[in-house]
Amino acid sequence: MALLQIVHLPEPILRKKAKPVTQFDKDLQVLIDNMFETMRDAPGVGLAAPQINLPMQLAVIEYAEGEDEEQEEGAPPPKKKQFVLINPEIVKASEEKVMGVEGCLSIPGLVGEVERHEAIQVKALNRHGQPVKLKVKGWMARIFQHEIDHLNGVLFTDRATRIWKPAEEEEDIPLD
Ligand code: NI
Repeated sequence: MALLQIVHLPEPILRKKAKPVTQFDKDLQVLIDNMFETMRDAPGVGLAAPQINLPMQLAVIEYAEGEDEEQEEGAPPPKKKQFVLINPEIVKASEEKVMGVEGCLSIPGLVGEVERHEAIQVKALNRHGQPVKLKVKGWMARIFQHEIDHLNGVLFTDRATRIWKPAEEEEDIPLD
């Protein structure tokens, strides 16, 4: 496995619409594994292909609900869930929207308050090219929307109602 280089603004690829993935070969499997490794190393909770300079509709996500809350001593850590999103499309979105603070591995040093759908349904392909339908809510739904935005050249700063440099105690905001 190998670590990939994450690109930052103003790299133009971050503003382009990514192209659908059509080849589900060995190279794609290696790329997906390397993206997971790069995301964990960053560390982050999601990574989209344009962030590693590839114009592909592909993103990886790994997050455990409750990961950022304080754990009872001796309690098992919350279980992380992994997703690979290929050519994803939001097919349903809750009317309810929620505010949350987001950061991005491609925009170091800034966070912002972003309104997102509380729950969404996504149609996508998995890493083997098989169609999947995913229902997510809460923080996971936020991460999904952030990653799908990346595949359309949209960044959280475009949607944020307020952007700031995080103070030290805010620096553990999950990035993607
Ligand atoms: Ni991001």
